[in-house]
Amino acid sequence: MKVTAFAPASIGNISVGFDVLGAAIAPIDGTKLGDTVTITNSDSFSFEMVGEWSSRLAYLHESGKKNLAQACAEYFLDQLPESKRKPVKILLNKNMPVGSGLGSSASSIVATFVALNQFFANPFDNIQLLKMMGKLEGSVSGSIHYDNVAPAYLGGIQLITLTESNICVKIPHFENWYWVLAYPGISLPTSEMRSILPQNYNRSVTIEYGKNLASFIYASFIKDEKLAVEVLKDVIAESYRKTKIPNFDLASKSLKELGMLAVGISGSGPTLFSITDNLEKAKEAKKLLRKIYVQNQDGFVHICRIF
Ligand code: HSE
Repeated sequence: MKVTAFAPASIGNISVGFDVLGAAIAPIDGTKLGDTVTITNSDSFSFEMVGEWSSRLAYLHESGKKNLAQACAEYFLDQLPESKRKPVKILLNKNMPVGSGLGSSASSIVATFVALNQFFANPFDNIQLLKMMGKLEGSVSGSIHYDNVAPAYLGGIQLITLTESNICVKIPHFENWYWVLAYPGISLPTSEMRSILPQNYNRSVTIEYGKNLASFIYASFIKDEKLAVEVLKDVIAESYRKTKIPNFDLASKSLKELGMLAVGISGSGPTLFSITDNLEKAKEAKKLLRKIYVQNQDGFVHICRIF
């Protein structure tokens, strides 16, 4: 038996919802931005990694020894009754850079869990699987957050609700928006980018955060694009994180001059995202970002839609 699963890249936070809002995305030119995992029967447990990013930085689980996909598989098998466990071969096609802010760890985690769940005839439901995904995400990024795993698993824009009965809900998105994503080619570990943030925020910041997030969600439902764009601001992380991201301010200023609707850090960075409803403008933004934001040959820029 052979099962293959793909999980797309994602934009955590979307500026306005730190840890609680995330979007699954896909390049419009058909590039497969995301990881693929294939599970097959095997006599003993084995793991192999291929793909463009497999020879670069490996994603290591907190133990420092295993790839994240291996750690996911071990955790998954541990949750199964012993009688149902059997050895498998995991093949990870690593198509995304690590520490990019594109939800690379979530992509490996989601693809692994989805493939395993299907391989073992769906022993776990969506919520159980999401909880497992969140736990493994927490093991590499410093703390559990669902804003990458939830959209990578369920698609679209997901708002994390984390109640007794549910983890997330899908939010409507503006179908006419293009999301231009620029990865500069350098790696910034999420755990480090989380550790530079304050532990506490003052009252005016929390009020501003709540106002912006609530207004963005409201605007998404009533399709008020102008309101959505006006409140799409990051008052929690951007001012701290951008100091670690070369040329973020310059790119942000240039994109706004170009007439892009919004600019933000994707997840914990260094990938930048920028929004427009005009394909020609998206193409101009892509050209500009290639020139001023991409630092080396590993970097790339994609024009994307919500997946
Ligand atoms: N919400 C997470 C963070 C996303 O900003 O740290 C990480 O990709």
